[in-house]
Amino acid sequence: MLQKFNPQNEHIFVFVRDKIVPRNEAQVSVFDSSVQGGDAVWEGLRIYNRRIFSLDAHLERLYQSAKALDFKNIPEKAFIIQAIVDTLHANKMYDHAHIRLTLTRGEKITSGMDPRLNTKGCCLIVLAEWKPPVYDNMEGITLVTSNIRRNSPQTLDSKIHHNNLLNNILAKIEANYAGADDALMLDLRGFVAETNATNLFMVKGQTLHTPAPVACLPGITRALVMQLAAQLNIPCVERDISLVEMYQADQVFTTGTMGELTPVNRIDGRLIENRSGTDVFAQLFAAFRTCTQTMGYMIV
Ligand SMILES: Cc1ncc(COP(=O)(O)O)c(C=O)c1O
Repeated sequence: MLQKFNPQNEHIFVFVRDKIVPRNEAQVSVFDSSVQGGDAVWEGLRIYNRRIFSLDAHLERLYQSAKALDFKNIPEKAFIIQAIVDTLHANKMYDHAHIRLTLTRGEKITSGMDPRLNTKGCCLIVLAEWKPPVYDNMEGITLVTSNIRRNSPQTLDSKIHHNNLLNNILAKIEANYAGADDALMLDLRGFVAETNATNLFMVKGQTLHTPAPVACLPGITRALVMQLAAQLNIPCVERDISLVEMYQADQVFTTGTMGELTPVNRIDGRLIENRSGTDVFAQLFAAFRTCTQTMGYMIV
């Protein structure tokens, strides 16, 4: 699963700080904290059918991440929404699009780690691209377990959705060399956390299981899937899950805005076989699709 350059994105418009500019003019300062230290927070959002899906939840997580990192002058929600809507209108993007929303701590007066050097306030970037879901959700994907552990609250709490992504990138490099689509990451105790880019669920019998958000991002798609499971009377348990339990699961799937709900076919070479006679994944996927077609913030 390697994304390719989409020529439709060659002449897109991007919002940076306070204005919309063509892609080749979109830039941040070399003094920006994201360049200096990966000191930024981000969200990935999807546009379906003129609606921005789960906009409120994404803006709330962005705000909470920025607050935890003690960003000053965090832009108001209304400002961010306007920037998103203006960018989508500039690109005439109302479906099949993905937004990478980044908020950096802003420009520094000189290079250095200290946030007190950031005197100019945050820098908002709205990068909207034509991008269908990145995984093959019909065929499914393969995972390999990484040697890199997912950050824990003892190191860098995964409840901050930050741009310091090297932890995940190292895991992804391992997956690439192993010929797998993505990496399965364990927490420091050896229990399953998530993949390098998505949350993980497994189905055993009629029950859904997912790791508690100890070392995984509390994903917005993950939360929606749990809500849909409740509506469909599918029991869902948040708990510590071992790797062997994943090998033995009837179904395994990932969740995330970028790829939606994606079945996992193999983990470390082990075939995930559904011996239960029911297809919980299909039920959840159908319910999820209804949501993406009917819910969200309408772009006018
Ligand atoms: C590490 C990681 N896990 C899970 C997710 C999925 O989160 P969401 O469902 O909010 O897109 C993401 C998305 O950014 C991620 O980076």
